[in-house]
Amino acid sequence: MTIRIPLKKEVETEIKSAKNLKELDQVFKKYLGKNGEIIIGLKSLRDLPKEKRAKAGKELNILKSFLEKELKARTGDLEDKIKKEIKKEEWIDITIPGRKPSIGHLHPLTQTKRKFEEIFQSMGFSVIEGPEIENEWYNFEALNIPAHHPARSTFCLSLCRTFYLKGGNLLRSHTSPVQIRYMEKHHPPLRIIVPGRIFRNEATDAKHEFNFYHIEGLMVDKSVSIANFKAILQEFLNKFFQKTIKMRLRPCYFPFTEPSFEVDIECVVCGGKGCSTCLGSGWIEMMGAGMVHPNVFKNVGLNPKDWQGFAFGMGMDRFAMMKYKINDIRFFNSGDLRFLQQF
Ligand code: DAH
Repeated sequence: MTIRIPLKKEVETEIKSAKNLKELDQVFKKYLGKNGEIIIGLKSLRDLPKEKRAKAGKELNILKSFLEKELKARTGDLEDKIKKEIKKEEWIDITIPGRKPSIGHLHPLTQTKRKFEEIFQSMGFSVIEGPEIENEWYNFEALNIPAHHPARSTFCLSLCRTFYLKGGNLLRSHTSPVQIRYMEKHHPPLRIIVPGRIFRNEATDAKHEFNFYHIEGLMVDKSVSIANFKAILQEFLNKFFQKTIKMRLRPCYFPFTEPSFEVDIECVVCGGKGCSTCLGSGWIEMMGAGMVHPNVFKNVGLNPKDWQGFAFGMGMDRFAMMKYKINDIRFFNSGDLRFLQQF
């Protein structure tokens, strides 16, 4: 009977060439595991003749402690290596400037709406909302627009082209119906503006959308005149455009006001000299307005002899276009970031 005693060199090479803990464990098992060569060798010592036993035992034990020492050292090395690799991956350079998260901002129309609200609120007006789906009474009749009025027709080329829904409803073609809804529930004196989305059956182009925004205004009291309207509007225009704006009133017709007029402002693009935006006239039409018609007061149960008021209605998109010098209304709903990021 003989025992194979592995060579120290052989063992040493195997330990050194173990590339990871798993390979090192295999070396451990090969020699020191349950069936490892050295363990088996030690167990078989008793079968050796006495004279060989002591020498073989000594050699095996020396090798065993050598192996244990080397394995421990190599394990330490490999563990250090792993730690270093983890550290490398997690390494943070705190001197690198941070990456700026891109933060969105309010849509130019929302910014415009808020500006309108801020200015009118500073003059005592409340901001009121109304439904986008209306009926004929509020959208037309209560506003003194009789059935034969061209604005009622879906087909004519009048200023209002209405989208009709089933069941006598329609998509509101202006925010004027909120005048009626508000006066039904609130007694004068009152001052309101009504910003909101409106709908018109229009072919879209640079100046027209079928869905855009209006701001209606209404002030009712015992003695309200066109002079009050002019003063309030002048204050609004100067604050909105942040400069003194020249304006003029032109006689016009609206069924719900008498007298009615349109308000022009001096072209803010060319300063009144005449350009392509104002078609050379130096003036731009910005809104309709007038003194509340007696029939409108009657329709909400107010006596026109007791109350006076002015009303106005304007396109918010048009104001935003003027302020920010935008030449196509379709940009607003385009969702194009190249456009939106400019505001
Ligand atoms: N509702 C009108 C339109 O849709 C705008 C308007 C004109 C509103 C005159 C008014 C007004 O209150 O008095 O174009």
